Amino acid sequence: MNFNIAVIPGDGIGPEIVREARKVLDKVASVYGHTFNYTEVLMGGVSIDACGVPLSDEALETAKKSDAVLLGAVGGKVGVDKWYELPPNLRPEAGLLAIRKGLGLFANLRPAYLYNELKGACPLKEEVADKGFDMIIVRELTGGLYFGARKTEEVDGVMTATDTLTYNENEIRRIAIKAFEIAMKRRKNVISVDKANVLDSSRLWKKVVTEVSKDYPEVTLSHMLVDNCAMQLVKDPAQFDVVLTENMFGDILSDEASMITGSIGMLSSASLGSGSLGLYEPSHGSAPDIAGTNKANPIATILSASMMLRYSFNLDKEADAVDNAVREVIADGIRTIDLMSDGMKLVSCTEMGDEIANRIK
Ligand code: IPM
Ligand code: MG
Repeated sequence: MNFNIAVIPGDGIGPEIVREARKVLDKVASVYGHTFNYTEVLMGGVSIDACGVPLSDEALETAKKSDAVLLGAVGGKVGVDKWYELPPNLRPEAGLLAIRKGLGLFANLRPAYLYNELKGACPLKEEVADKGFDMIIVRELTGGLYFGARKTEEVDGVMTATDTLTYNENEIRRIAIKAFEIAMKRRKNVISVDKANVLDSSRLWKKVVTEVSKDYPEVTLSHMLVDNCAMQLVKDPAQFDVVLTENMFGDILSDEASMITGSIGMLSSASLGSGSLGLYEPSHGSAPDIAGTNKANPIATILSASMMLRYSFNLDKEADAVDNAVREVIADGIRTIDLMSDGMKLVSCTEMGDEIANRIK
């Protein structure tokens, strides 16, 4: 089959890791007889440099017309990169928020899985790590605090800043449905995370999620307060299957979940809307410190490409081939620097891409 992929290398290590993901996709194409056409799109700091905005209208149009978007990372260093002297709505990260909103990608899927071979890198106690974990965070992505009205003003001579957290029932319902659909393909357990003991938006969240659960009698639903969830993630991560939550809680909890896997360099993500178009990006950032050194771990981006095959192109067999190739590479002791330990073979970003591509069958 034939697919058009908009590729956004972005900033920092973005171009390096995206190159390796394309290498793996090209191998998939040749083994399974598909054609992937790539169109490069500017976003983030590189787009600010080239056209003055973090995401141009043309860039968004190209993304809209594609079958899927593959993204490396955007952003640089505050205090170092001149992009951060611009107003917040013109900084690199604003491009990311704009493309999510512009493509209607309201569902952010962030799997966090502990590989057996990487248990040593897990910062949790041995008896907790030994149990392993395999969860997916389903984060609402286009509502809540990150998209509400905000302002900074002087009120009676005092500087005052306001952000607003709004959710309507339709926004909650559609993300809840996604979470339950995903749970049906997994261990059929949804934990919905909120702050219903304080927030109105959370009370509505809890009510709507409970309503949606009635359509999925096979799925067990429970509710957890976000502060407790932050604690449970380090105390007993094995209890989680699907974690359903709003935008900011999901942002924070997904970083925590990624940390306990031992390396943020392993975690993929998918952002989906109501159709098949999705945006696929590693959960980590642009790591400007190691940009251009060929040291980055491309696995999160390669696994994001695998999610693209699965969720946007419906190519499950091909996605399995990528996931298995990554598992084999880990089992064979091949490591980028972030995962390196005694007795393992250290490879560069490029070599890691080669090793994975060579194992696609
Ligand atoms: C993420 C990032 C972004 C977010 C930032 C860069 C706007 O932290 O993808 O988690 O909060 O969504
Ligand atoms: Mg984040």
